[in-house]
Amino acid sequence: MQTLKKHSLFAIGYFLLIALLGLVLRLFQLVELPFDYRFLVHTHSHVALLGWVYTTLTTLIYKSYLSKASIHKKYRNLFWFTQVTIVGMLFTFPFTGYALFSIIFSTLFLFASYVFMWLFIKHTSEAQKRTYSYKCILVSLWYMVISSIGPWALGIIMNTAGSGSDLYRNAIYFYLHFQYNGWFVMALIGILLYVLEQNKIKLSPKRFRPFFWTMNIGIVATFAISVLWMQPPMFIYFISGFGSLLQLFAFGILMKWLLPLREKIKNLSSRLFCPLLKITGMFFLIKLLFQILGSLPYFAAVISSNIDLMIGYIHWTFLGVISIAALVFLSYFKLIRLSKGTMLLYLIGFFLTEGLIFYKGIVVWSKSWLTANYLLYLAVASGVFLIGIAQIFINQFRKMTKN
Ligand code: HEM
Repeated sequence: MQTLKKHSLFAIGYFLLIALLGLVLRLFQLVELPFDYRFLVHTHSHVALLGWVYTTLTTLIYKSYLSKASIHKKYRNLFWFTQVTIVGMLFTFPFTGYALFSIIFSTLFLFASYVFMWLFIKHTSEAQKRTYSYKCILVSLWYMVISSIGPWALGIIMNTAGSGSDLYRNAIYFYLHFQYNGWFVMALIGILLYVLEQNKIKLSPKRFRPFFWTMNIGIVATFAISVLWMQPPMFIYFISGFGSLLQLFAFGILMKWLLPLREKIKNLSSRLFCPLLKITGMFFLIKLLFQILGSLPYFAAVISSNIDLMIGYIHWTFLGVISIAALVFLSYFKLIRLSKGTMLLYLIGFFLTEGLIFYKGIVVWSKSWLTANYLLYLAVASGVFLIGIAQIFINQFRKMTKN
């Protein structure tokens, strides 16, 4: 099997594992389980962000930018080193939570991610560096590095202000914000631009510059949303709203360019490529609207005291925007195989789980009654989701046996 296909299979394997862990987390409220809930949440979130998304994005970036750079051996060693750190986290977090070994593995992971960025900068040609896709990927990798200030600060905060402090919570939010709104989103936009550039569809500088700046100023400014739970001074709400509007504007620029190219994009890849991109775009637009809503003082207060609305929102972004886009691009580069049936099941699982989580969020907010057996329905919906992701994983082996 080709190396990058194998790496993609690892990523999909992690995806399956986090869906399984997600289901186990939801079963906790239904049955007694012999695990520590918080430890399993740490395992789930680390394997999701670092195992599934990081492995996918670095594989896509390597495939697009570095596969011709003759650094195969260096990259392979880095890949395996990174996998040891992820598997290390997988086997330590469930039993110890944040403790010596899980901290060692997560720290080593950070160093591996810095080395990846260094490889990317060092081994891309001048011609590659002039492309707009490169600029987006470079800035995404900077967000990845900036996000890591969060975990570094946690060590200091734990020994000073303590793990119950506001600072501790904000350091986690800082990390999460720059991971998914910065690193993941900009890397996926970069890959999209790369795919289009390879097919001679190029953004003009007149469009790229305002898109790039409004998007990035928006990304930095919307970190303010993450601190609204503290009910800060009014100007922080303004920064949040301003950042959210800027991002909506950036999205508008991108859509104004892409929508007239629909017919061209349809022919670029398999029949699933264009519809799935459209779905991701729609989910992203809804995410941007959520951000605007969440910047308003009333809703910011409602959301920060409502765990279901928060979990619903982050999983909307992770599963609806980032994971679908990641699957689409892996499939575009023929690193995985996607079928209509499995994606349909995935979407059903997505809508069922998100619908139920937001339903509970709204019930809690409006102080009305939750339907009986809610937790059972949520567990079944998460089971459907797991089956969808398991199907995606199994399909990769079907392809290999055919070959
Ligand atoms: C595949 C189906 C998934 C299910 C069923 C699921 C379920 C869950 C559950 C039950 C929690 C615990 C919420 C809590 O009590 O705090 C959680 C947390 C989390 N999940 Fe997922 N998840 C899934 C996929 C993902 C994906 C794909 C990502 C990221 C790429 C992700 C990232 C996270 C993060 C970062 C947290 C921690 C949130 C926090 O502590 O504030 N999950 N998930």
